Amino acid sequence: MSTGRPLGLRTKIFLDGGDPQQTKAALDMLGFLDGQTTNPTLIAKNPVVQDYLAKGAKYTEETAYELYRKVVTEISALLPEGSVSIEVYADQRTPAKTMISQAEEMFAWIPNAHIKFPITAEGLRAAELAVKAHVRVNLTLCFSQPQAAAVYQATRGAKRGDVFISPFVGRLDDRGENGMDLIKNILQMYRPGDGHVEVLAASIRTMEHFLCALQMGVDIATVPFKILNDWAARGMPIPGDDFVYRAAGLRPIPYQNLSLTRWQKFDIGHELTDKGIEKFSQDWNALIQ
Ligand code: E4P
Repeated sequence: MSTGRPLGLRTKIFLDGGDPQQTKAALDMLGFLDGQTTNPTLIAKNPVVQDYLAKGAKYTEETAYELYRKVVTEISALLPEGSVSIEVYADQRTPAKTMISQAEEMFAWIPNAHIKFPITAEGLRAAELAVKAHVRVNLTLCFSQPQAAAVYQATRGAKRGDVFISPFVGRLDDRGENGMDLIKNILQMYRPGDGHVEVLAASIRTMEHFLCALQMGVDIATVPFKILNDWAARGMPIPGDDFVYRAAGLRPIPYQNLSLTRWQKFDIGHELTDKGIEKFSQDWNALIQ
């Protein structure tokens, strides 16, 4: 077991996973943990769920949500000072109204929830209403700078700590783009702003992603257990100025000059957001008979 948060660590460290046993193990291993993010795919990978499905059983919609609630309740009890992200069910047809009613229900499950909405027109509308109703939010499946500008605009007026945005690094890398550039660009665009949106680096797949996110001073990084384990084994290093992120073979994502102050309509469509919604909804629906 480690002694806790390393001196000089500015970034909050979240576990990316759907298994409370891993939360316990990560806490023991690091000696601290600032929160956790879940999503429908991660909940479907929970070992209890996998054992249940292996017996040929299926959930009903009601028991699947009971299970999600039980999982995040256990995680929340382990991280009473932290934040736990819970994702609404959304497919291409889910309207903002349905997302909002799910969000209100999920937000009442635990005292430290952030509710995840996809960055689509309906998801943004739902997040805007959620923020007005003092529901903490995490805008997920972010793949572009205009999406991040739209999130900033839609959640204006919220207090710092209540709004996260989750740019997905690994999924951009998967298609040959340098996902870390998106994080860098969003941090740069938000810098002159009022700080009400915290940048949460998600889809972290490698130690290099994680170290680069720490070097950039991202607000939050959500990290799979395996990488946290490796980080702990290396003595929880925080990279200095001499760390160089190697994005060999990945196309750079150029910075776009977008104004956060002047009202603008941003083009928030992105193929990977659509694909992400499809995969999350498929993985969730596969649990249900
Ligand atoms: C967390 O909030 C995200 O859902 C997660 O990091 C996605 O990771 P993946 O792209 O490896 O599935």
